[in-house]
Amino acid sequence: MFYRPASFFNAVAYHPPQVIFAGDFRDSMANAMESGVFAVNIVGASALTAMNATSARFPRGTDEFVAVGVAKADCVEIDCPRVADAPATLECRVVKEIDLLGTERMILGEVVGVHLRDDCLVDGRLDYRLYAPAARLGYQDYTFVREVVQLRRP
Ligand SMILES: Cc1cc2nc3c(=O)[nH]c(=O)nc-3n(C[C@H](O)[C@H](O)[C@H](O)COP(=O)(O)O)c2cc1C
Repeated sequence: MFYRPASFFNAVAYHPPQVIFAGDFRDSMANAMESGVFAVNIVGASALTAMNATSARFPRGTDEFVAVGVAKADCVEIDCPRVADAPATLECRVVKEIDLLGTERMILGEVVGVHLRDDCLVDGRLDYRLYAPAARLGYQDYTFVREVVQLRRP
């Protein structure tokens, strides 16, 4: 099962929406390449400890959802589990795997489905203050997004 924290994750394009994740993940990348799909689950403040627990070294084939006690649900567009109560989930189909320097690799995926948790929405839009997205800083430090400003693009 693929349920690991990934700092090296980013959205990289809008049309169609595309995301990448990268690093020296072994099982997670093998799973994504074998199944052709992966799900990106956004972590809110309340899920940070569980997220960290899933980064332990489990033997290949371990279901981290079960090992760590995180409820899972099925994705809709792809055959892949997702975190049932994640504030947001992106269902992704693998587009390609790209070799980086050393033993690092990057997987590019197309977002083919989006889940937004009902209680994180205000007037149909995600309200970040309702789940405080977790962001990794350096070292073992994290922060939570609790302050939001809006800027109009010139
Ligand atoms: C907050 C956090 C972020 C992480 N980000 C990444 C990452 O972006 N890429 C990576 O290769 N490993 C990352 N890791 C380490 C993996 O979660 C961990 O090494 C995992 O055991 C690798 O899984 P796999 O080899 O079974 O796929 C991160 C760990 C933590 C705690």
